[in-house]
Amino acid sequence: MSAPVRLFDPAADSLADLAVLHAASFDAPWNEAALAALLDTPGTFAFHSRDGFVLARVAGDEAEILTLAVAPAARGQGLGRALMLEAANRSQELGAAALFLEVGVANPAALALYAGLGFANVGARKGYYDGQDAAVLRLPLPAKFA
Ligand SMILES: CC(C)(COP(=O)(O)OP(=O)(O)OC[C@H]1O[C@@H](n2cnc3c(N)ncnc32)[C@H](O)[C@@H]1OP(=O)(O)O)[C@@H](O)C(=O)NCCC(=O)NCCS
Repeated sequence: MSAPVRLFDPAADSLADLAVLHAASFDAPWNEAALAALLDTPGTFAFHSRDGFVLARVAGDEAEILTLAVAPAARGQGLGRALMLEAANRSQELGAAALFLEVGVANPAALALYAGLGFANVGARKGYYDGQDAAVLRLPLPAKFA
């Protein structure tokens, strides 16, 4: 059984664990200091489990996914979806009417995950990830998850 997903508590939970998870998923890892600075920003929160985390921010009536990472060995078991559901629900609780994110157009796993959650393509960014184009996706809140 997979570990439970919980709201990240900066006073009690390990930023080092989040940094390890991020480094295992991205070529340009965010270190503990970078993650701490983000979590210190008003409206920013994270959900995590042993094998993954999502970081999001609410500003006014809009929320944004800042990053999402699942450990390679734990992928394909529903954790990414579970983290996104928690982030969407909390974003709505904090007043957001829509959740946005940017995703590389050559990231089929993430694109499929977001499409399955009901995100729609609302824009494009050229050269967003190391020269790779990104799509801007939007999910209206409250989300109607299947
Ligand atoms: C994207 C990522 C978070 C998905 O996490 P995950 O835990 O494997 O995703 P889930 O198991 O919850 O999958 C949910 C859905 O996503 C889709 N999906 C996930 N992995 C997929 C893959 N490799 N190929 C195609 N679709 C995939 C499926 O539609 C799946 O639904 P299903 O269970 O009905 O098949 C993970 O692959 C990851 O960390 N990648 C590296 C970092 C990254 O790209 N983050 C997102 C940046 S925007």
